[in-house]
Formats: sequence, structure tokens, C-alpha cells
Amino acid sequence: MTASTNPVGIIGGTGLTSLSDLEIVGEETVSTRWGEPSDKLVHGRLGDQAVVFLARHGNPHRIPPHQVNYRANLQALYDAGVRTVVGVNAVGGIHKAMGPAHVVVPDQVIDYTWGRASTFFEGELEHVTHIDFTYPYDQEGRQLLIDAARGLKLDFSDFGVYAATQGPRLETAAEIRRLERDGCDLVGMTGMPEAVLAAELGMRYVCLALVVNWAAGKSDHIITMEEIDQAIDQGMAGVKTVLERSMAG
Ligand code: HPA
Repeated sequence: MTASTNPVGIIGGTGLTSLSDLEIVGEETVSTRWGEPSDKLVHGRLGDQAVVFLARHGNPHRIPPHQVNYRANLQALYDAGVRTVVGVNAVGGIHKAMGPAHVVVPDQVIDYTWGRASTFFEGELEHVTHIDFTYPYDQEGRQLLIDAARGLKLDFSDFGVYAATQGPRLETAAEIRRLERDGCDLVGMTGMPEAVLAAELGMRYVCLALVVNWAAGKSDHIITMEEIDQAIDQGMAGVKTVLERSMAG
């Protein structure tokens, strides 16, 4: 993501409410025509790359996935000059290779969310717009993350179909079997409409996912917060290193 003179936006999810390695140069509370973003924008540098960090759920973590103002978040980053966004997402693993602490750069998404404000193109319009969304994640940006992850000894996959569910509850085992039949490898609650809103603004968007639990019914136990916290502890350092290395050129 280096070649960019524009700052790179990083939207941190569960387990990533701040970036400790970020050299902070300023913080900014902003408002947009779509309302308030989840938190202040943190302007900083990761190596040579200017970045703008935004905590998706606020800091401290308090906004549930279905109540995040995704439009305000993306608009605020756009207004700050961001044209490339990395969305960091905690997810459940469905694919048998994608267990806790596994890092994934997904290549596709299926949207199962409902009732969220998921487009900028509504209201008083001069014309109707249908954007292309065949490949939801920017290929060049994905490759930078993949190259960075390959250089580390990470438990990592360079593919995956992300199922975006409504939440905030986790899924039933039957729902996960259905997602699996649909071809999904990962399940999370925040991947959409974030990706499509970035696309509507003409921004490059990539997802960097950390598996924090086996999805419902994929292990012999129910999902606990302890398990999730443990996987975050185990895996988030790797995610941060991938972010830093991908910016280092
Ligand atoms: N399902 C949906 N979202 C999630 C999960 C899950 O199992 N784990 C983390 N986010």
C-alpha cells in the first residue's frame, strides 16, 4: 500500500481498538453528512506510510456491529484523504484450515446482513447508480497483505469467502452449515456494508481477518468469550505485523 501518498485508512475491529506501533501525529473529531463516525480519527505513521486509524466499535468497544454507522466511518476516512482502506475483522472459522488465531485475506464476500444503511446512493438522486462489485476486495492491496503475511511464519490463508451476518448474536450450528453449503469459509458481522460503501466512494478496500473462534458447531464446545480473548491475544500481534510490513514497501 506504500506507493500511496494519500493516507491509508485502517478500520480496527474487535481486539484492535488502537494501534500501539502507530506513531500518532494527531487526533481529530469529525462529523459527516451521514452523522458521526464511531470514534475520533487518529492520524499517524506506520513506518513511512501516513495512516488514519478508526476504531469501528468505538474506543472503548461499545457499538455493536448492526449499529455501527458504516456510512459515516467511510465518509470520514474519505474526507481525510484516504483512498485505500484496510478493514481488520475478527471472525469465526468455518473452513477446516481456519481455526483460532489463523489470519486470512479473504477474496469474496456474501452479505447476509439486513436493515443496515448499506448505500450512499439513495434519497434525492439525479440518477440511479449500480456499482460493479464482482471482486469486492482490491487485488493489489490483497497482494501486499499476502506478501507481508508470507514473510512471517504465520498460520495464514490467502483466500476465503467471508459471510457477513447480522449479529450481534453468534450463529446456530445449522446456520453455519448453511453458510458452508453456500461456500463461505469465514463468518463475521462487520465486513458488510463496509466493503461496498468503500467501493461506492471509489476507494480500494481490503479485509484482513483474524479467526477468533471455530464457528458454531465446528468444534465440540460452545463459543466462549474466554476462547475469543485468547485467540485475540495469540493472533493480533501477527495481524499488526502484517499491517506494518505491508506498509513498509
Ligand atoms: N460469527 C460471527 N461473527 C463473529 C464470529 C462468529 O463466530 N466470531 C467473531 N465474529
